[in-house]
Amino acid sequence: MATERTLVLVKPDAMQRGLAGTILQRLENRGLRLIGLKLMQVETDLARRHYAEHEGKPFFAGLVEYITSSPIIAAVFEGDSATGAVRNSVGSTNPSQAAAGTIRGDFGLEVGRNLVHASDSPESGERETALFFTPEELVAWSRDTDRWISEDA
Ligand code: RTP
Ligand code: MG
Repeated sequence: MATERTLVLVKPDAMQRGLAGTILQRLENRGLRLIGLKLMQVETDLARRHYAEHEGKPFFAGLVEYITSSPIIAAVFEGDSATGAVRNSVGSTNPSQAAAGTIRGDFGLEVGRNLVHASDSPESGERETALFFTPEELVAWSRDTDRWISEDA
């Protein structure tokens, strides 16, 4: 399995609702390794670049307003097949259709307040990580528990 880096954003609604710790803990519990973490206010320019693939769609302006409406936490997780693992834990884009047991399925009700962002491919993970973090802000480390999480560690 390939080691991947994936960007997670704890969105403004989750921050306002005090769910940041719960969300990060669920991902940490899966065995993913945290290699970057920061609390920040996303400015409009960064929001537009992060969500550039959605420019021109009817929800774009609301999406930029949403992601810039309050501080967020940006996190980078690393692990074997990390992208798919995080997306599965986050759940479907619309919380009303997300499976119970996922973050969106357990804590959300509508698509415009879906609590968390997760990169949708390893390539997006690299692109988005570089948007939110400098290389110096990422920490390479290993854990004593890694061999209990991955056979190959
Ligand atoms: P994200 O990028 O935030 O992790 O979400 P995603 O991959 O599951 O969904 P995506 O299609 O990339 O959409 C990005 C975000 O735009 C908002 N959205 N609103 N009103 C709407 O129809 C609509 N569709 C998407 C959501 O906040 C979604 O997470
Ligand atoms: Mg997306």
